[in-house]
Amino acid sequence: MAKVNLQGITRKFGNVTAIDNITFEVPDHEFWVLVGPSGCGKSTILRAIAGLESITSGELYIGDRLVNDLPARQRDIAMVFQNYALYPHMSVAENLAFGLRMRQEKPANITRKVQEVAHSLNIEHLLKRKPKQLSGGQQQRVALGRAIARQPQVFLLDEPLSNLDAQLREDTRAELKQLHDRFRITTIYVTHDQVEAMTLADRIVVLEDGVIQQIASPQEIYAHPANRMVASFLGSPPMNIFPVTYNDKNFVINQQLIAVTDSIQRQLQPNRGESFDLGIRPENITIISPTEIAENIATLTLEIDLIEPLGKEILIRGNFPNSHISINLFAPANWQGNKGDRLTIKLDLTQLFIFDSNSNKTLMG
Ligand SMILES: Nc1ncnc2c1ncn2[C@@H]1O[C@H](COP(=O)(O)OP(=O)(O)O)[C@@H](O)[C@H]1O
Ligand SMILES: [Mg+2]
Repeated sequence: MAKVNLQGITRKFGNVTAIDNITFEVPDHEFWVLVGPSGCGKSTILRAIAGLESITSGELYIGDRLVNDLPARQRDIAMVFQNYALYPHMSVAENLAFGLRMRQEKPANITRKVQEVAHSLNIEHLLKRKPKQLSGGQQQRVALGRAIARQPQVFLLDEPLSNLDAQLREDTRAELKQLHDRFRITTIYVTHDQVEAMTLADRIVVLEDGVIQQIASPQEIYAHPANRMVASFLGSPPMNIFPVTYNDKNFVINQQLIAVTDSIQRQLQPNRGESFDLGIRPENITIISPTEIAENIATLTLEIDLIEPLGKEILIRGNFPNSHISINLFAPANWQGNKGDRLTIKLDLTQLFIFDSNSNKTLMG
């Protein structure tokens, strides 16, 4: 197995820059996830690593070897795509063995490795079947198994769970994590799904428009997003972000005031009268009853727009009165209320994020 090192990789298609100056190094044995909205360049990066896509500039190393000019088949990489791409005329066992056969491994070795992989993916009972006799989830397991059986230097996965239904996606996600714990193959996994990124990754690379926004552990990305895009992309429901003006000790939104902490006041002293984007995650908002309202706590009034019972809690969307700015928050499962009611909420001021309205960079939080 090997580390993967990208140094300033750029790929242009005509005058479209699909990926721009991509630099990161995945250490040997780690599991990294590239995440971002559709079209942000995830697949282009993966295809460049695999050698399926040429690069316009930059250097790509697998292990310590510069592979820019090395053909795909010599890179010792296995890739799994969203559509399973099994050989339809071969049995599951033959599909699993295919890469090993190509490398002319001994038949006894092939049998042993196929058994081992089939066992760890729970597909032993399917070995004799043809792909069309399998469900989508089973086919994708076989595709994963075929890639793992080869024991490649690097494992590349491009949205491998997207075609599976929700329950199967969760199960397969958990299996993937266990497989990685077991085989420790250096893995780069592409997804647009932030839950997959958070749950699978040792480190997450967040991309937008072909540019890296942040590289960090899931915990770090969640707690300290580098900018507004990262803040709103990771987390479900996403962080609430709304425009405010800083007006001597208070943020002002919708003619309501949010009195801020001393430390924010110190930091924003020179910025009186300026506009910012304020961020707060739904879990850092609580509903309070009018009798609890006291001075020096930050409360806001919303009008309830949507109520979504989730079982263990209730997701509420409220709008600032007479505006289209909405806020998501959670209420306890036994909460009672109706659409159109007024709601008073309290923000945990230690959990506020402040973003620069122009650069979108995180200023505080
Ligand atoms: N072969 C191609 N020719 C022209 N543009 C391409 C080609 N492949 C990708 N692109 C463009 O590059 C950008 C990134 O695409 P892609 O890497 O597929 O994004 P993602 O996988 O994140 O959805 C998109 O704007 C896409 O239209
Ligand atoms: Mg893609």
